[in-house]
Amino acid sequence: MTAIVAETWEEAAAREALLDLCMPQRFEKASELIREGRLPADGLALAAHGPDGRMVATVRLWHISAGPGRPALLLGPLAVHPWFRDRGLGGAMMHAALGRAADLGHAAVILVGDAPYYQRFGFSAAKTGGLWMPGPFDPARLLAVELKRGALDGVRGLISPTGDLAAKPSLEALIAADVKRSA
Ligand SMILES: CC(C)(COP(=O)(O)OP(=O)(O)OC[C@H]1O[C@@H](n2cnc3c(N)ncnc32)[C@H](O)[C@@H]1OP(=O)(O)O)[C@@H](O)C(=O)NCCC(=O)NCCS
Repeated sequence: MTAIVAETWEEAAAREALLDLCMPQRFEKASELIREGRLPADGLALAAHGPDGRMVATVRLWHISAGPGRPALLLGPLAVHPWFRDRGLGGAMMHAALGRAADLGHAAVILVGDAPYYQRFGFSAAKTGGLWMPGPFDPARLLAVELKRGALDGVRGLISPTGDLAAKPSLEALIAADVKRSA
């Protein structure tokens, strides 16, 4: 089994190419409204690589509030390259992500996904009935697992992003570089 490691900043393009292949529709999802313009939680952007060093699996977790004042993480996207599926890599990515999140002291993980896949990792809709996403979602697919017992008791409200904003490139710097190039 390939090692599961922290994604490096140089791998952003490789990760997006993998996601384009596995989940081309990801930008239409309500979860994207939570991820957009944010950085993933520290230490919780994970990757696995094939024998030639190319990225073959990715999963990231994001700081959220599950209703007012209830810190948690949103998981996703999880993707495994089609050539590497059905050999336990997706499961290994999930166990690594949940184990690291627990070690880092996080209280709960929420995701929007297929219950038949995610229930094997302890996810269910048992505690998400009072939560909603900032866009269209199927309540039966809004799933959660507690890393600290009772962390999601009574949660109610909008799931909203609380992670750090990703730095935007400076427009002035881009224009200056372009002017210099064409001079
Ligand atoms: C979902 C995904 C990450 C699983 O990766 P994987 O490495 O094949 O996962 P594993 O090897 O750990 O598990 C494979 C098992 O999960 C099952 N499985 C995969 N996707 C499933 C789904 N959406 N619903 C139910 N079961 C699913 C497989 O049938 C297989 O079952 P088996 O163990 O009984 O043979 C991978 O199929 C993928 O990248 N899919 C496209 C992206 C995606 O849809 N991600 C979000 C999923 S909601």
